[in-house]
Amino acid sequence: MIRLREFRLNTLPVSGKLLCTLFLICMGVGFAFSQLNVFFTYNRADGIAGFSLQDIVLTYYGQPDVLLVESKLNGTMREHLDNEYERNSLINWAKGGAEKEKSNEAKSIILKNCLLCHTAGGAAAFAPFDTLSTVSAVFTRINNGISIPRLITLSHIHMISIGVVFALSGIIFLFTPINEKLKMILLIFPFGSLLMDVFSWWLTKRIPVFAIAVFIGGVFTVIGFFIQFVISLLTMWRSSGEST
Ligand code: HEC
Repeated sequence: MIRLREFRLNTLPVSGKLLCTLFLICMGVGFAFSQLNVFFTYNRADGIAGFSLQDIVLTYYGQPDVLLVESKLNGTMREHLDNEYERNSLINWAKGGAEKEKSNEAKSIILKNCLLCHTAGGAAAFAPFDTLSTVSAVFTRINNGISIPRLITLSHIHMISIGVVFALSGIIFLFTPINEKLKMILLIFPFGSLLMDVFSWWLTKRIPVFAIAVFIGGVFTVIGFFIQFVISLLTMWRSSGEST
């Protein structure tokens, strides 16, 4: 009977190796897509293509002297409007207090361009534009960055789902034949990066300079996972004779 601490991945039967490999590949592809998602959602927060620290600052800290809708219509929401005229029209209506009396034009633009997502079940259900009062509430808000309820939602989803992925990939990685100290560091690395990433969102909401920590945490989270991914796969499929 082999003892657990001596057990190595390459002694698994092929079925076990397939399970671990397919799991790691699915998680790797999932990670790649999640990073693309972050890129496409936030790279235009500052209205300029390409991901920058300014995008992170605008997303979490905001722009305290500008209306939220104005920064969004100059940034991530810009592409949903057909022309400059519509954009100016919405921004001016918002600056005028988003009043009911002057809402006709704004209403038709919102119906045509925004309601698809800004309604229950849509991609932006957290900021619904279904009634004039909910529209006015969002349109008259200063850009204070991401809201606390949304930050709570994002934080718990990230911590729990990515934490479970790291736990499972970490269990596979435990049985690779590398140096024990190095293994400990590589096991802590992705969890530490994840904690740094999520906590820095909260810090950036208060102090913009922490955007750097958000960026580094995010990049290290991905690197941490891929180091485990590569070492696990390479050592798993080596024949048992060579590993020790
Ligand atoms: C394809 C889906 C989609 C469309 C269409 C869309 N939005 Fe959004 N909107 C989102 C998503 C997703 C977010 C959250 C990400 C972000 O803030 O960039 C968002 C966020 C916002 C926010 C910030 C809300 C908050 O509480 O943080 C505003 C304001 C906004 N959109 C305005 C608009 C306006 C005005 C239009 C129409 C011109 C529009 N959006 C069209 C998906 C959409």
